[in-house]
Amino acid sequence: MSGIPSPRESFGSKFGIIAATAGSAVGLGNIWRYPYITGENGGAAFILIYLLIVIAIGIPVMLSELAIGRRAQQNVYGSFRKLAPNRPWYLIGLMGVVAAFMILAFYTVVAGWTLEYLYQSFIGGFHGKSPEELVGMYNGFIGSSTRPLIWFFVFMGLTAFIVAAGVKNGIEKSTKILMPLLFVILIVLIVRSVTLPGAAKGISFLFKPDFSKITATTFLMALGQAFFSLSIGMGTLITYGSYIQKRDNLATTALSVIFTDTLVAVLAGIAIFPAVFAFNIAPESGPGLAFITLPNIFEQMTGGTIFSIMFFTLLGVAALTSTISVLEVIVAFFVEELKMKRSAATWLATLSVSALGVLCVLSTSSLANFKLFDKTVFELMDFTTANVLLPIGGLFIVIFVAWFFGRDKAKEELSNNGQLKARYIPLFLFVIKFIAPLAIAFVFLQGIGLIKL
Ligand code: PHE
Repeated sequence: MSGIPSPRESFGSKFGIIAATAGSAVGLGNIWRYPYITGENGGAAFILIYLLIVIAIGIPVMLSELAIGRRAQQNVYGSFRKLAPNRPWYLIGLMGVVAAFMILAFYTVVAGWTLEYLYQSFIGGFHGKSPEELVGMYNGFIGSSTRPLIWFFVFMGLTAFIVAAGVKNGIEKSTKILMPLLFVILIVLIVRSVTLPGAAKGISFLFKPDFSKITATTFLMALGQAFFSLSIGMGTLITYGSYIQKRDNLATTALSVIFTDTLVAVLAGIAIFPAVFAFNIAPESGPGLAFITLPNIFEQMTGGTIFSIMFFTLLGVAALTSTISVLEVIVAFFVEELKMKRSAATWLATLSVSALGVLCVLSTSSLANFKLFDKTVFELMDFTTANVLLPIGGLFIVIFVAWFFGRDKAKEELSNNGQLKARYIPLFLFVIKFIAPLAIAFVFLQGIGLIKL
């Protein structure tokens, strides 16, 4: 069994737990990825499938992760080692650490873009530009290599700085300030977006499902998006769960986080699509969607510069509360398994992620033609983590809790040793035994084309 003698850190308050965990969930996945994936996959019909998956699969997987982490009080790898000694379950933990490397590498690239856009907002870089010029500006920026590289390193550095400060003084302290700010800004943007002339088309794209657009891939994309957006399937929540104290309620934590994450995704859609249609931008424009439409909105607004600064600050902030959670997965692993000091572990993790990250940065410029499986390194990291590694991880996590960990321990953990009523436990156990694993396996196999129905 692995373990460290020094006392483990934990989150200090309920609000701190929610801020950190919802901070992990709410991020570029909601504001950048969700709108463009929705745009590429047909709008409202996709959203309905997404919501179904969040409820049927997202909630049980998240709760399972929190239970594993809090029980084991270890990093993702150590948790499986501790709860299932001498069994191969630790491989799921290792897969989580690998997924963390891959996610951080491509995610931080986009996080870096938010800093460039923040900088441009300050110097009035969008000023007087037509929608076409803003498209050109985006393509010009991601098509160059130096600036995206610099911003990538700045963002990695910021992330490392917070993680190095520790769970309570770094992660919890920062997210408690950053998360509430995010909400305020999002609301302001929505009000502006829905009052643009021509906004109605965007609203109907979001709320009128066209079921003819649905294929097996739509389901896989929704599954991947749900896992990615909720930060589940790779041990972020096992790691954060291990910092939750025995007296705290795991179910209310999971539900608050899922509610917040879904709300922010839907709100981000409402902030973005009316503007997309109002400015005649194609809803399937891909990863550039948020970076092209939002500057457009700001250009039309009185006080646009201020809003633009606020928005990109907060987009960066949302990304930061997520990157720290991904880095923490690796750092906790290094600290506990390699017996390293937190600061050394943080810098080692940061440097090694950066090596892969550089390839992701260059995927939109000098390495744009370097493709594996028809995808650039950036696209490959994004696709493989969200649509393959996280669903597989999630599948094994629920199977672990349902069939291996067992009823009694699950009950103890979720009811805080009988102190909470937790009447939902039988339902939860039924869902993680049968429904969630079958649903994940089915959507996954169908989506990658291994089975056809
Ligand atoms: N959930 C984060 C987002 O939506 C991304 C993330 C994925 C964070 C996996 C941690 C683990 O932006």
